[in-house]
Parts: sequence; structure tokens; C-alpha cells
Amino acid sequence: MLKCIYMKTLKEILNEARDSSIAIGHFNVSNLEQLRAIMEAAKVYNASIMIGLSEGERKFFGLKQAVALVKSFKEEYGLPVFLNPDHSHSVESAKMAFDAGFDSVHIDLSSLPFEDNVRGTREVVEYVKSKNPEISIEGELGYLRGESRIQKEAITIKPEDLTMPEEAAEFTGKTGIDRFSGAYGNSHGISLDEPALDIERIKAVRQALPKEVAMVLHGGSGIPDEEIKEAIKAGIVNIHVNTEIRVAYADALRKFLAENLEETTPYKILAPAVKAVKDKVEEKLRLFGNI
Ligand code: 13P
Repeated sequence: MLKCIYMKTLKEILNEARDSSIAIGHFNVSNLEQLRAIMEAAKVYNASIMIGLSEGERKFFGLKQAVALVKSFKEEYGLPVFLNPDHSHSVESAKMAFDAGFDSVHIDLSSLPFEDNVRGTREVVEYVKSKNPEISIEGELGYLRGESRIQKEAITIKPEDLTMPEEAAEFTGKTGIDRFSGAYGNSHGISLDEPALDIERIKAVRQALPKEVAMVLHGGSGIPDEEIKEAIKAGIVNIHVNTEIRVAYADALRKFLAENLEETTPYKILAPAVKAVKDKVEEKLRLFGNI
């Protein structure tokens, strides 16, 4: 049966998160099983969440399929869930996801020079807002190293890699974005060294930005819990996690297959992987204060 409840916008939910010092989890998926596991975890705490698909994940999953499945879970579970095209690296890929029905947009041109980043991000903001002003759009400034996997090397982040508060304010003002993501010592994936977040820099960027602009932390995997809590206190309201979900899924799947060489039924093979993802996401929701 469909649950008809008033669904808040992502902007409203991020504002509420800011006022109650919690963070909304953004979790990446590659398939239906991971999506279901994350939805089951969100249901446990009645949490609002974001579901993200990178360009690679989108290609594998299918844009229309992701939109349809997230919509079906939203209706069935009655939870605010927002589908986000995580790290769209071109104006075209961001527009394509929005046109396919994604509920949020992330345009990431952070590898480009500042002016080119501003120009492309602004183009996406104008395009999306002209069609639906309620859609929350994320822009990114400050290049994040690493990939969402376990890396055998250490990742060195230099002070000059960190986002400057004045640039963050200029970028936000010129583009009109709703969510800002920057570099604060975070990196994608799990590397040999533990990331050390620059909490003072997060606070300085927070102060430089308009209150209604939400601050996003990427590279949520592998950051010690205490640092995550400090980052939330400093103003982060949205945390992206991918690698830890991938590792939970892949480890459980590998273990089951190694121990059950004769098993061929997909729903039996995948059940432990779904459970591992659900447990991981519940852990993150508690850490982010969604209880
Ligand atoms: P991790 O893979 O480090 O969790 O980062 C994910 C991310 O930032 C996706 O946008």
C-alpha cells in the first residue's frame, strides 16, 4: 500500500540537520541489493538519506532504473530519500541525470581551473533551477585525491590542497549552489594512512558561507569516528560513504562463495552481502546522529 505523507525537500532536511547538529548520510550503490540494504537500515532509524550513483555506477545501474527503484522504495517505506548523481564530471552528465528524474544534482568540476569550474557549475544551476527551483545542487571546490577502493599507498594531502574560505565564498556566490563540498584533509577510499581532517578549516569555511548553504564531506570512509563527530559539530551536514559499503558487500560475498562452492541461488548467495551493507549503514547512521 502506498503511504501518502508530506515529503520535505532536501534543502529543508539539510537545514533541519544543521539546526540539530546531525549529518544526513549519502550512500553509494551499484545494484538493487545494496539499495535495498540501505533502505532497510534507514527504516530502522526512520532516517532521511541520500542515495548516490557515480558516473560508473550510473552506467552499470541505468539512469531510468535507478530513478524508478528509488521512487518505489520511497513510496513503500514512506521515507525521504533523495537520488543524487554523485560526482558528475561534466555539465552534460549532470543535466542528463536531472532530466532522467534524479532528485538532486552534484556537479564536480573541481579538477578544472577556478573560472572554468564556476562557469560549468553555474550553467548546471541555471539549467536545473529554470526547470525546478526546489532541487538542491552541489558544487565542489578543492581537488580530492584517491578513489573509492582500498588503496595500498598512503595519500599525502598538502596544506595548499585545502579549500580556502574566501574562495569557497566566491565560488558559492558566483554559482548559486545549495550544497558546498571542499577539501579539508579528506580523500576518497581507504588508504594506508588515516585521514586527518582540518576541523578549524571546516569551521572557517562554514563561517564564510551563507547559513542556508549546506556543507558536504566527501570521502567518509576510513575517517575515525571522533573526527566525524567533530566535523559535524564544525558544520558538516551531509557525509558521503562509498568504500566502506563496497568493502562490506564484497567481503561478505567472497566469504560466502568460498564457503559454499555448490550454491547457485542468487538470493542465497547475496543475502550475507545485503546484511553486511545494512549493518554498515546502520553504524554510519548512528555515528551521524540519526537516532
Ligand atoms: P569514500 O569512498 O571514501 O567513502 O568516499 C565516497 C564519496 O565521497 C562519494 O561521493
